[in-house]
Amino acid sequence: METSVLEVVLPGVVEPDGLVLRRGPRPTPGRGQALVRVEATGVSFAEQQMRRAKYYDQPPFPFVPGYDLVGTVAEVGPGVDPALVGGRFAALTKTGGWASHALVAAADLVPVPAGVDPAEAETFVVNGITAWQMLHRVARVTEGHTVLVHGANGGVGSTLVQLARLAGARVIGTASPRHHDAVRALGATPVDYRDPDLPAKVRALAPGGVDAVFDHVGGPGIVDSWRLLAPRGALVAYGTASTRDEGGNSRLPVLRLFARLLWWDLLPNGRTAKFFNIWAGRRRAARFRARLADDLGAVLALLAEGRLRPQVAARVPLAEVARAVELAESGTVAGKVVLVP
Ligand SMILES: NC(=O)c1ccc[n+]([C@@H]2O[C@H](COP(=O)([O-])OP(=O)(O)OC[C@H]3O[C@@H](n4cnc5c(N)ncnc54)[C@H](OP(=O)(O)O)[C@@H]3O)[C@@H](O)[C@H]2O)c1
Repeated sequence: METSVLEVVLPGVVEPDGLVLRRGPRPTPGRGQALVRVEATGVSFAEQQMRRAKYYDQPPFPFVPGYDLVGTVAEVGPGVDPALVGGRFAALTKTGGWASHALVAAADLVPVPAGVDPAEAETFVVNGITAWQMLHRVARVTEGHTVLVHGANGGVGSTLVQLARLAGARVIGTASPRHHDAVRALGATPVDYRDPDLPAKVRALAPGGVDAVFDHVGGPGIVDSWRLLAPRGALVAYGTASTRDEGGNSRLPVLRLFARLLWWDLLPNGRTAKFFNIWAGRRRAARFRARLADDLGAVLALLAEGRLRPQVAARVPLAEVARAVELAESGTVAGKVVLVP
């Protein structure tokens, strides 16, 4: 049994090489908790924002980043079923995943089907929940719909493309030209998101407008996303990636976006405009957890059946976290960079 654990600390606003590796004593799970031996944890866009202090719900420094993880339960605290020990689970953590071991509330653990590779499962935790809920709970995409997915090569984007295709929708995906082959391989028609004629290109592919747009970019381009909607179409905004490197208050771009979406949503034209937040409804813990477990369970089942293609951009040892972050931010990867402790 390991007596010490390794974790990565984000000490403040630093470049990737300023991340600190720290060894500490193995923690003991408290009531309701499980100690998970982490097998895979992801580098998400959220950490790109967090290391710039630009995340909407920024945790105070110093902290251990890591939005999600997959691992096996090493030990459980009082009040937790001992049968969980040895089982493989996924969890959405927001922080704390970049470690060899993590304390997680046992109620937040979602079983990973037998035979599924931990790194492959990892690519679908935050990405799978986000994509599934936006597609099926917010936009309600069904067979015959045409949808526009921005950042179709990214973690959430590539999952959205695949889930929309499985739902029977036609998908147009924006990405840099270097990723167009990868986007095509997932079943979407790629268009360049930097193309000044992007709206015209999308209209040429969907003359009647699209039934849903999934937009993590925000900024001025959100107006095009709204205008591209078909009657009764749904705009689902879920980020402001375009403002990552702007100075000033990290909440302002999001609040500006909220106001705009609210206004559009109130217009009596049959179209809807919503902001998706994976943590919405968290205060009603039992309902929140049940939905999350259902949705992530559905995605992991599709993975186990071989119907989803995991996009593991790279597997990087935890101790080489700086390289993993640089790679994730390089704009050269398709899919998710996974840390393997
Ligand atoms: N609201 C929520 O609950 C929620 C939950 C999860 C994720 N998110 C958001 O989802 C987004 C994607 O996260 P992820 O982990 O999937 O990220 P990711 O894997 O790093 O992918 C990001 C994607 O965005 C593209 N991109 C980056 N900067 C851009 C810009 N300025 N304009 C247009 N496209 C840009 C990238 O394209 P290139 O590779 O060509 O640069 C890539 O396709 C993030 O904005 C994140 O905050 C929100």
